[in-house]
Amino acid sequence: MPLISWNESYSVGIPRLDNQHKRIFEFIDLLFDAMCKGQGRGVIGKVIDDLVSYTEEHFGCEEHLMRTHGFTDYLNHKRVHDGFIAKVREFRDRHRQDDTTVPADVARYLREWLTNHINGMDKGYRSFFSKLGVE
Ligand code: FEO
Repeated sequence: MPLISWNESYSVGIPRLDNQHKRIFEFIDLLFDAMCKGQGRGVIGKVIDDLVSYTEEHFGCEEHLMRTHGFTDYLNHKRVHDGFIAKVREFRDRHRQDDTTVPADVARYLREWLTNHINGMDKGYRSFFSKLGVE
């Protein structure tokens, strides 16, 4: 059973961003799965690295849309994104230093952070982009 699954209740109304959120959820599950199976440091480290890269890509896409269309909360949203990336990098560094609790911490942190962020801040741009016809 997955730790977290995307469903329509998480939709922000823009299919490409929904798809990116789905992919990030999949990374959480990959990490959780690797942790449950007791996978080695190399496998878990790779999932964390991929997660950092993909999340940066997603944030870049979202921030580009916000900047392009003059979304008023852009700077605040970006600050929150930057904080998240810093936190995941911190997890990655701890993992590299042999901290075996890291995968469980990351999976839990990601699930909480993402569901709160998508349901809060991300949904805050939904009606703004919808009025502009952004898809
Ligand atoms: Fe989808 Fe603001 O991250």
